[in-house]
Amino acid sequence: LRESTPVRYDERRNCWDVFRYEDVHYILKNPALFSSKRPISDMENLLIMDPPRHSQMRGLVNQAFTPKAIAALEPRIADIANELLDEAAARGGMDTVHDFSGPLPVIVIAELLGVPARDRKLFKEWSDVLVTGPQMNTEEALRAVMAERHEAMRKLGGYFTGILGKRRGKREEDLISLLLDAEIDGQKLTDQEVLSFCILLLVAGNETTTNLITNAVRYMTEHPEMQEMLRRQPDLMPAAVEEVLRYYPPIQAIGRVTTSDVELGGQLIKAGSQVVNWVASANRDGAKFEDPNTFVPDRKPNPHLSFGFGIHFCLGAPLARLEAKIALNLLLERFGHIARSGEEELQPIQSPFVFGVKSFPV
Ligand code: HEM
Repeated sequence: LRESTPVRYDERRNCWDVFRYEDVHYILKNPALFSSKRPISDMENLLIMDPPRHSQMRGLVNQAFTPKAIAALEPRIADIANELLDEAAARGGMDTVHDFSGPLPVIVIAELLGVPARDRKLFKEWSDVLVTGPQMNTEEALRAVMAERHEAMRKLGGYFTGILGKRRGKREEDLISLLLDAEIDGQKLTDQEVLSFCILLLVAGNETTTNLITNAVRYMTEHPEMQEMLRRQPDLMPAAVEEVLRYYPPIQAIGRVTTSDVELGGQLIKAGSQVVNWVASANRDGAKFEDPNTFVPDRKPNPHLSFGFGIHFCLGAPLARLEAKIALNLLLERFGHIARSGEEELQPIQSPFVFGVKSFPV
């Protein structure tokens, strides 16, 4: 498709697909022509805002998400990962998703936000519902999932409103307190904005990081020599994580809507059209990456688009990178050889935009 129809209209889905690196990059770099405003959530949030509102909001939340603040989390992330691996060691194995890559980002974000440990189980239940897709692609299944999500969102909303009230009275050392204090030109976030941002962090950050870690474990069990190499040279892990992101991107595509008629790849795309930018294809474009279908653990440079590009570049990228690096290095350090267990066929997550598996026993 990248070669034969790099920009094509799909009548059945009523949208345009874009497959080449150069075109996807161009689109993500031009928010004035390709808007992020899409009706995919009940609540307004950063991901679906355009400038100037987006620049304001992003400036505000950047204050709470600085690289320095994220780097300071390293010891705590290692503690959480080690606790999860202690349990796995005691059992002699684990399901990567259920026991390790799933809980890790949820616990980290819960702590960051200031959710007390006693509420964590509830919190995980609601967060999971927000990102779980339907088991079948029928309209009935879809409707059931939407209803369930709506209910989880309502519960999470109520829960965060409670925490917000408490932090208004007394600040703590957590992200919610920081968000309540952050301001630009004397302007602060409203409660509704803080709430919708917290929910965005859960939706955008948890399943994606889970899939990144699982995809890396999957690659290392398919290529045991990679385990050996990374165990000997843990400093290579950050580059290897980037290559997992390029090779098995947790998010396969990024959506935009045209604001006026645009010509791209010899096609005329009318104003108001949905455009699906296939990151998974761009990341394997031979015009940008040498030997694109080969996994090169120390590939440099590695300008993959798995965290997006431009003004909406993933806010949580430093956190996801840090969690993956810590989790994978600890896994290799503590276990001599990691192999898949069981014979079951891999069950892909049922979504055209997510790349990951539902379970991965090792
Ligand atoms: C934006 C991917 C982890 C929070 C994005 C975008 C992508 C992405 C592709 C851009 C979407 C667009 O342009 O429309 C990923 C992947 C992750 C990950 C692959 C893990 C491997 C996280 C984490 C958090 C997070 C851990 C937070 C805790 C966000 C937010 C945005 C975003 C808030 C919106 C930024 C904006 O619109 O300015 N992410 N993400 N992400 N991500 Fe991530």
